[in-house]
Amino acid sequence: MTLKEKYGNWAFVAGGSEGIGGAWAEKLAKEGMNVAFCGRHAETLEEKRAALESRYGVETRPFICDLGDLDAYQKVIKEVDDLDVGFFVYNAGISDNGFFADRDIETELWRLNVNSRTLLALAIYFSKKMVAAGKGAIVLPSSGAGVCGSPYLQTYSATKAYNLTLAEALWSELGEFGVDVISPIIGATISQNLKVPVGTPGIQAPEEVVEETLAQLGKEPTVIVSTIYDMFKNAYILEERKKVIEHIKHEVHNPEVADFFTKGDLDSYTSKLMERALDN
Ligand SMILES: NC(=O)c1ccc[n+]([C@@H]2O[C@H](COP(=O)([O-])OP(=O)(O)OC[C@H]3O[C@@H](n4cnc5c(N)ncnc54)[C@H](OP(=O)(O)O)[C@@H]3O)[C@@H](O)[C@H]2O)c1
Repeated sequence: MTLKEKYGNWAFVAGGSEGIGGAWAEKLAKEGMNVAFCGRHAETLEEKRAALESRYGVETRPFICDLGDLDAYQKVIKEVDDLDVGFFVYNAGISDNGFFADRDIETELWRLNVNSRTLLALAIYFSKKMVAAGKGAIVLPSSGAGVCGSPYLQTYSATKAYNLTLAEALWSELGEFGVDVISPIIGATISQNLKVPVGTPGIQAPEEVVEETLAQLGKEPTVIVSTIYDMFKNAYILEERKKVIEHIKHEVHNPEVADFFTKGDLDSYTSKLMERALDN
């Protein structure tokens, strides 16, 4: 089954003109999906549009949008609202090394917007449509830097942890409604900012990241890409996390516990916990 057959006619890639985002756009078009995508630079958007249309004969909708702008999500929604988007990749993510105490507040807030704030808004928007359609795919990239706190990459690391845990929650929650969610834990990959030859040791081609992610989509909430698997497999133990995800889901979705969270009824919650402990 092609991705088009499984998820529908249109895909949207936030940051889809180059690098890993460009590889997502290529793959989705190759699978017959029409592709909407955005970026900040008209020239690279146009190059990608021409390539996708000539190579795969699909429709495209490129548009300029800085995903760090506070109203970026509204702009994206305006551009894609008439499309039946069944595959959503939020690719854009900005990092750079620096000492935390030297950071510029406005720059870090912009980074937070690009990496997570706009991602959150669009994930909600596409979730509503996909749940209503009973199918869809959402890809929210993380990084090795999102598994543990990463000194000198603090904000980036924290935003990638945000994307990772959001995806884990949605994998469980939306999976019940036919929506597949995954967060690839990505290592060094040839990109807009890392232009090295294919085959450079330890550095993946963007296409490999896409293929390794697709191989687990609809099955797992995350995938650690092959180049960093050995380094992260003990820091991120998928099977243990899946057990905890399901436990938390059960607890939070439990009406007794929901009463505590919504009404703050601590006495009744603790007495129920006590009853349960005694039962066990
Ligand atoms: N590459 C790696 O080594 C690596 C490692 C771990 C995780 N990741 C994750 O992989 C994802 C891709 O990162 P990448 O560095 O490899 O980038 P990339 O995919 O090479 O390129 C980024 C794409 O996003 C667009 N973009 C960047 N900033 C944007 C903004 N503010 N608004 C709109 N579009 C924007 C770029 O177009 P414009 O420049 O025209 O805006 C380009 O199309 C990120 O989520 C990153 O955290 C990458």
